[in-house]
Amino acid sequence: MSITGSLTIAIDGPAASGKGTLARRLADYYHLPHLDTGLTYRAVGHALLTHGLPLDNVSAAETAARQVDLANLDREALSAHEVAEAASRVAVYPTVRKILVDKQRAFAARPGGAVLDGRDIGTVVCPDAGVKLFVTATAEVRAARRLRDILSRGGTADPAEILADIVRRDARDTGRSDSPLRPATDAHLLDTTEMSIEAAFQAARAVIDDFLAKRDDNQPASIS
Ligand code: DC
Repeated sequence: MSITGSLTIAIDGPAASGKGTLARRLADYYHLPHLDTGLTYRAVGHALLTHGLPLDNVSAAETAARQVDLANLDREALSAHEVAEAASRVAVYPTVRKILVDKQRAFAARPGGAVLDGRDIGTVVCPDAGVKLFVTATAEVRAARRLRDILSRGGTADPAEILADIVRRDARDTGRSDSPLRPATDAHLLDTTEMSIEAAFQAARAVIDDFLAKRDDNQPASIS
């Protein structure tokens, strides 16, 4: 669907909540560019792991953050489980966050708008986004989805370990002092525990279409 004017959609939520899939589908549907901001933190974690540097080396993390190129984020290379854990560790450093947030804001500022997903999009990166969604599901359901995803790609994993990882990452992401994961006060909550991807997409679309209809109704009528 083509929209009139600019639209920024901010999508936040915990690991494996389905926010990434939802963000991609919405970006596709509304013809908007999409940025998975988790990949920017993963790129920093990946750089430190690759160079054998400790994850608490803040100045190395800052250098890696400066080198992050939004046009060159390789989802496949950054998908490993150790990279996700490393991302969550480097994401606690305010200086690293500031460097990445500046890049994310520049992406969001492009004419026409964009869809961004992450942990702090509605609260910090794009507090003025037209639509904010906060996607959740129970940790057990998220772990089951992650396991299905790994198995479908021919991998193997221990279900108990996946759940423990998710719980640990949730605790770090919600407990950090800078930009913790939490819904913006004006976010629409989408609990996908008992929802398919299709149902979540339709629910999100209803929220966005309602926002667009109200916004368009408030535009001054054109004088011909
Ligand atoms: O969404 P993801 O699983 O790819 O994110 C990896 C980690 O990056 C996540 O555990 C915390 C961090 N992150 C963040 O702090 N802020 C964001 N906007 C996105 C991700």
